Amino acid sequence: MRAVVHRAFGPPDVLNVEEVPTPTPRSDELLIRVHAATVTAVDSAARRGEPLPARLTFGPIRPKYPTLGADCAGRVEAVGENVRDFAPGDEVLALSGSFGTHAEYVCVPQDSPVVAKSAVLTFAETVAVSEGALTALPFLRDAARLRAGQSILVNGASGSIGSAAVQLAAHMGAEVTAVCGGANSDLVRSLGASRVVDHTVEDFTRAREAYDVIFDAVGKSSFGRCRGALRVGGHYLTTVSSMAIMGQTMWTRLGRKRASIALTGLRPAPDKARDLVLIRGLAEAGTIRPVIDRSCPLDQAVEAHRRVDSGRKRGAVVLRMSEEA
Ligand SMILES: NC(=O)c1ccc[n+]([C@@H]2O[C@H](COP(=O)([O-])OP(=O)(O)OC[C@H]3O[C@@H](n4cnc5c(N)ncnc54)[C@H](OP(=O)(O)O)[C@@H]3O)[C@@H](O)[C@H]2O)c1
Repeated sequence: MRAVVHRAFGPPDVLNVEEVPTPTPRSDELLIRVHAATVTAVDSAARRGEPLPARLTFGPIRPKYPTLGADCAGRVEAVGENVRDFAPGDEVLALSGSFGTHAEYVCVPQDSPVVAKSAVLTFAETVAVSEGALTALPFLRDAARLRAGQSILVNGASGSIGSAAVQLAAHMGAEVTAVCGGANSDLVRSLGASRVVDHTVEDFTRAREAYDVIFDAVGKSSFGRCRGALRVGGHYLTTVSSMAIMGQTMWTRLGRKRASIALTGLRPAPDKARDLVLIRGLAEAGTIRPVIDRSCPLDQAVEAHRRVDSGRKRGAVVLRMSEEA
């Protein structure tokens, strides 16, 4: 099979498309013919081997996961003898706990988050709509406990997580202020934002007691800078880890204004699977829609990574492994 492979950490040019052996499923695994997968900030970090402490996961010297990609939409090709819930031919959306989806085939254990694909979405739309929403949903629903009528500001509203957050928050009945560059203003309005702040001309942190929730989907702010813009009882959340937010998550727990980070990737597989089903339902109903920055064939993995590294993508970057995507 063809797979995107990197043998050293570095810029997108370390990636090559190679012929590698097609994996064979173990007794509890599904072999999936991948049609589409997203390229994310996590793939970029794993390719770069940064930040350095993450080398414990990505490999201390050389990449532990030569083929990246953490999600895929495709068709089950074969199953191990102990797999009960899936059969060859099933169209699925799956998450891999050990990367490997930027290839024509991948094996995933049956207890990974694997759900049936929606018949009304393409393979590319399936991965695109799930990628950001699977992170945004636990932040808004579980960490912020966002309620109808509340006022939320989403920073980085045109990215993968941000564009999902805007749509989910509007669906939850919140009043949404979206922060992005001016060129993405129409996009975020179309997703449900009632107000847009262009971060190149206005500093949203100068607002005073304006928001019940500030969700920084791209981690470009800090609790210290945003505290004044929060209402009393308000909650600041960020997706990007730092020593500061780790401490603030504990210290502000009982405070008048809270700060927290959630590590949504570490949630148990059944919780992720349940949310993938929920997101599928919202997408089928047209409540949320995929935002696709670009969809690149496998051969253009380097360009796809460059776009992710730019920090400017609108929604998801998708890698297509077949014409069916
Ligand atoms: N904690 C968790 O569980 C978790 C899970 C998954 C990912 N993450 C992290 O979440 C982060 C965001 O991921 P993502 O995929 O949503 O990002 P992304 O799609 O790469 O975000 C790109 C967007 O960010 C906007 N942006 C760039 N600089 C900005 C600024 N200074 N102010 C406001 N917006 C700005 C850009 O909008 P303009 O071009 O319009 O400026 C662009 O549309 C990554 O760091 C990732 O590692 C965390």
